[in-house]
Amino acid sequence: MQDILEQLEKKRALAHLGGGQKRIDAQHKKGKLTARERLELLLDDGTFEEWDMFVEHRSVDFGMADNKIPGDGVVTGYGMINGRLVFVFSQDFTVFGGALSEAHAEKICKVMDQAMKVGAPVIGLNDSGGARIQEGVASLGGYADVFQRNVMASGVVPQISMIMGPCAGGAVYSPAMTDFIFMVKDSSYMFVTGPEVVKTVTHEEVTAEELGGGITHTTRSGVADLAFENDVEALMMLRRLYNYLPLNNREKPPVRPSNDPADRQDMSLDTLVPENPNKPYDMKELITKTVDDGDFFEIQPEYAKNIVVGFARMEGQTVGIVANQPLVLAGCLDIKSSIKAARFVRFCDAFNIPVVTFVDVPGFMPGTSQEYGGIIKHGAKLLYAYAECTVPKITVITRKAYGGAYDVMSSKHLRGDVNFAWPNAEIAVMGAKGAVEIIFREDKSDPAKLAAREAEYKARFANPFVAGARGFIDDVILPHETRKRICRSLVMLKDKKLDNPWRKHGNIPL
Ligand code: COA
Repeated sequence: MQDILEQLEKKRALAHLGGGQKRIDAQHKKGKLTARERLELLLDDGTFEEWDMFVEHRSVDFGMADNKIPGDGVVTGYGMINGRLVFVFSQDFTVFGGALSEAHAEKICKVMDQAMKVGAPVIGLNDSGGARIQEGVASLGGYADVFQRNVMASGVVPQISMIMGPCAGGAVYSPAMTDFIFMVKDSSYMFVTGPEVVKTVTHEEVTAEELGGGITHTTRSGVADLAFENDVEALMMLRRLYNYLPLNNREKPPVRPSNDPADRQDMSLDTLVPENPNKPYDMKELITKTVDDGDFFEIQPEYAKNIVVGFARMEGQTVGIVANQPLVLAGCLDIKSSIKAARFVRFCDAFNIPVVTFVDVPGFMPGTSQEYGGIIKHGAKLLYAYAECTVPKITVITRKAYGGAYDVMSSKHLRGDVNFAWPNAEIAVMGAKGAVEIIFREDKSDPAKLAAREAEYKARFANPFVAGARGFIDDVILPHETRKRICRSLVMLKDKKLDNPWRKHGNIPL
């Protein structure tokens, strides 16, 4: 017995040491924490239950038969985040560069399978040199096994990826299929092919950070949602995000009680929208003044800034916020913003999170780059996402809701549950100036006549009452009571039930 206990302790110590002190020091020197240190920060104290610490790879080629480290480069198991269950895997760069072997993949698959059985999210901390080169196709098979599970888990349990080191080649596709990707600036990167291959094939000279670092993916490609300064900040923010999410698609998100009164009025909102319809204002001010305690967790804040998405709470209940941002491109919908918002709306819909939409949209972005880029198809994604969405949908039009974009932005016609407008809202096919220039083309050379037509058009259409008369707007509300009216609507919608017709799956324009 004593023997076996000693053996156990020895094996545990070996597993804890990973690739050895030298490599741990090297990891620290790069400003990175080790796989286990990261889990300690991510999970509530003392809650981590580790699995498969004794798993070893089975490869024999290239001297690997005698080169085994218990755990095989990934620490897996489950634990708690603020008392709520989560399954985790954390790749250990000190062990074969965190490279994925067949056994390493099996460990990840095991936690994913269990997470699906019990209905709990999976968080992956990625720090890996990719496929275990010594194993060849066995390792590639391991990746595919993980991918398949990512797809099966999509929309069933939340999946979150944190990129904390290299993530290249096939390795990128598991995070790519998860719901959120966080990165650490300067120490993590994601790319399909690295700088060397890029140089050979396209003759472009680019660093790893430029090609696939945190800044690149949160500002240019939109692959990642948020980038942080270091491991600690990233893991703390991941804990914060976790608090908004339900454990699975059959549960509601957790409620966090708040002392912020549901009927709190904010008089400053009455003057938020400038008199001049062409003057911008910051939609985030409306968001933070409306939600509980001004607390807004923005997703993709640096990408497609003309639309704002993120999580907040109303009377303690998680809501997803989608809002046009007049400060950027006048809040127009373009390719990037449509995709960004569509994906967010679909996440909320999959996980029972009501969607609150603030609308100030002058339309879709004109131009050849948008049309050639496929704005028709990509704009349709957002339309599709809102139309298929069955969670409670509340919409507030603060100013412009023009043209097709009016329809898209959670309109009544797409099964919006409660649609409000502020008194100065303009719900029309387009702005008055553009409208009269088209329908009164014959008056083009007579500015006085044109101005009179414009005034007439404005008086007739640039208000919320035409839509109100048809019931497309449920009520015209005062800006200062926006919070109260949304909170009441959410209470009314608490037990909303709506099913889409049975089908294998829809065919969202991709
Ligand atoms: N398979 C097996 N071992 C790997 C590996 C892989 N894919 N990637 C890294 N390693 C090992 C290295 O051999 C090294 O082992 P050692 O500590 O025993 O010397 C250790 O991991 C650390 O790698 P190193 O290259 O020293 O670290 P680095 O920080 O300088 O570079 C990478 C990291 C990821 C850029 C580099 O290791 C690399 O290019 N790896 C290969 C990536 C790849 O092509 N993967 C396959 C395609 S998916």
